[in-house]
Amino acid sequence: MNQLAIELNEILDSSVAGGFLSAVGRRMYFPKGIVAQSDEAKEKAKTYNATVGLATSKGQPMHLSDIMSMFREGVFKPSEIFNYAPGGGDKALRAVWKEEMIRKNPSLASRLTSGCIVTAGLTHTISLMATLFFDEGDELVLPDLFWDNYDLIFSDLRGCGIRTFSFFRDGGFNTQGMKEALLASPGDHVRLLLNFPNNPTGYTPTESEMEELVRAIVEVAESGKKVLVLCDDAYYGLFFEDDIAGESLFARLAGAHENIFAIKGDAATKEDMVWGFRIGFVTYASKGFTKEHLAALEKKTLGAIRCTVSNCDRPGQSMLLKAYTDGVNVQSDKQRTSDEMRERYREIHKAVSKQPTTLLRAYPFNSGYFMAFDTQGHSAEELRTYLLDKYGIGTINIMDRTLRLAYCSVEKEDLEDLVNTLFKAAGELWS
Ligand SMILES: Cc1ncc(COP(=O)(O)O)c(C=O)c1O
Repeated sequence: MNQLAIELNEILDSSVAGGFLSAVGRRMYFPKGIVAQSDEAKEKAKTYNATVGLATSKGQPMHLSDIMSMFREGVFKPSEIFNYAPGGGDKALRAVWKEEMIRKNPSLASRLTSGCIVTAGLTHTISLMATLFFDEGDELVLPDLFWDNYDLIFSDLRGCGIRTFSFFRDGGFNTQGMKEALLASPGDHVRLLLNFPNNPTGYTPTESEMEELVRAIVEVAESGKKVLVLCDDAYYGLFFEDDIAGESLFARLAGAHENIFAIKGDAATKEDMVWGFRIGFVTYASKGFTKEHLAALEKKTLGAIRCTVSNCDRPGQSMLLKAYTDGVNVQSDKQRTSDEMRERYREIHKAVSKQPTTLLRAYPFNSGYFMAFDTQGHSAEELRTYLLDKYGIGTINIMDRTLRLAYCSVEKEDLEDLVNTLFKAAGELWS
């Protein structure tokens, strides 16, 4: 059990609540992970705050102007704001999201997939999948650099084991390691979660790497194992190099093999810059699925939503739908944000490439909001607190061996200084 959970239990055991805690309740704690470190940085990071996974410009979230302009009277009927949304989400929004998913992943046009079911954000999607498809003691296979909330959801909430493999091998995605981990995962049903563009590394496989990755999963399926693959596409579309695989892994697995169960978790959160709206989606596919299978999966998912949040946000769905149907700037606003992120990516790449690799070694990165460093045996937490206290710079420590920079929330002209100060601080601590 996590030490933080143990400490909370010790406090609560001297109260009436302690004896009521369930097994999950006893395992629960608030991690000192990304959210807690970001909160600390909000207070202290007066120079640069590179903790937050949110695209900002001049301190404000970037956004769709078509949505911003809706905040006035008369735009919506009361029923579009105050009603409950239908179970599974606004039907028109679901249709638009599916259409967009196929536009971005053309090979899905010839595949049978479920409807895109609305959830209360991608975290909710992942948590729903953990509830529906993971039992206590089941194992999740993950690359060793992953979003910290997976730990809380799969280990602490669901009581699952996590088997990791090294993310990188020879400067690219470690497909061999992934395949070995899947084959070593016990039982004939194995579960894999992949997130591209990745948080924290900012890496997406290239087209040829993606083909190899799909081949490896198919080979595991051919060996007789049934493979569930949860694709976390939170940062989909933020691709900054030409050789990156453009279609989601989900699209490639949707018709790949009867033993592969592909699940796409995506969200308007980052794709449409509505972080606070809480609108996510889940979509299912498998080569062997019939319409009846997909309808049954949709009903199971609606049940899992019903008994958690009951119903998802109505105003946000109305606004997003209106932006997609009546808006005039949606694609150009998204393109502008993506272009700005690409420029920041180039800038930070250039700044990092001028630095030595003796103390901090950047992991490969080509996409998304982030890049991260291997602190090569030194404590990433020591560097994080030193940067915060001495230089007013907020960064994220991951498992004390990785330091993540969110360049999405730092202005382009500040990135070189951010990187220079980071390396200077590492030198002051460790040289
Ligand atoms: C990899 C990854 N998946 C999922 C999420 C959750 O997204 P949402 O805000 O839609 O719950 C995040 C958010 O930081 C993320 O980094």
